Amino acid sequence: MAILAGKTAAITGGAGGIGGAIAQRFAEEGATLAVLDLDREGAEKTAAALRGPATGHFSAAIDVGEEASVEAAFAAAGEALGGIDILVNSAAIAGAATVEEMAVAEWDRMLHINLRGTFLCCRAVLPGMRRNKWGRIVNFASEVAHRGNPGLSHYAASKAAVIAFGKCLALEAIGDGICVNTLSPGPTDTAMLAGIDEEVIAKLVNDMMPIGRLGEAREIAAAALYLASDDAAFCVGTTLNVNGGSYLQ
Ligand SMILES: NC(=O)c1ccc[n+]([C@@H]2O[C@H](COP(=O)([O-])OP(=O)(O)OC[C@H]3O[C@@H](n4cnc5c(N)ncnc54)[C@H](O)[C@@H]3O)[C@@H](O)[C@H]2O)c1
Repeated sequence: MAILAGKTAAITGGAGGIGGAIAQRFAEEGATLAVLDLDREGAEKTAAALRGPATGHFSAAIDVGEEASVEAAFAAAGEALGGIDILVNSAAIAGAATVEEMAVAEWDRMLHINLRGTFLCCRAVLPGMRRNKWGRIVNFASEVAHRGNPGLSHYAASKAAVIAFGKCLALEAIGDGICVNTLSPGPTDTAMLAGIDEEVIAKLVNDMMPIGRLGEAREIAAAALYLASDDAAFCVGTTLNVNGGSYLQ
């Protein structure tokens, strides 16, 4: 039987590289998807392209940093799918600036989307998961949260905070069969790296990636599938590093 047969899953950032790959992998494993993204058209396209045993996939625009937008999108998704069993919080932004160069607005925006967004989306799905006595939440960190990187203090801080947030929520939720865990990828070939010079990427791979290449979105999706499945029932507040050896914990 397909691993997620009969399950519903909401993916924020579902129009993105990793979110899109997760949506497709979950669909192949039998889930019905709600693809949510700031990019409404991208979310629609991702949902329309999903192939798998289930039908009736849903898509909607969401701004994960805005409470009203999150509440409305999850209410619509829950109604369309008959509830949300699995939440993947893949939506995020990145950016580069040293601490001295950084505008306060840049700092605030990073925390607003990456951290507050994760909090708001988790909060939106918890009541339904508690009623069902089953749920899976997969939050997204990054290896830079563990090892640091010049120019990424705001991004790394937001991702380290997601890990801490997830540990606390995991302890609050496990009593109702809800497993909250964090997936921490290494550099992965998606639009998030698109603005970076090829030379910089080549140096990053050479200096930091023992595997000798970037990750592929489908490799991160495979890890998300595990954390979203029944098989992850004993994973509570853990962080799964999938990074080609760039950071070893
Ligand atoms: N790609 C990497 O190298 C890498 C490495 C470590 C961690 N990650 C994390 O993996 C996750 C997925 O990243 P990706 O590589 O797929 O990036 P991506 O840029 O391809 O996708 C991110 C998606 O988030 C959406 N988004 C941005 N702001 C939003 C908002 N306010 N509300 C709703 N949606 C919003 C974007 O429209 C986009 O579709 C992120 O959490 C990222 O931080 C990525």
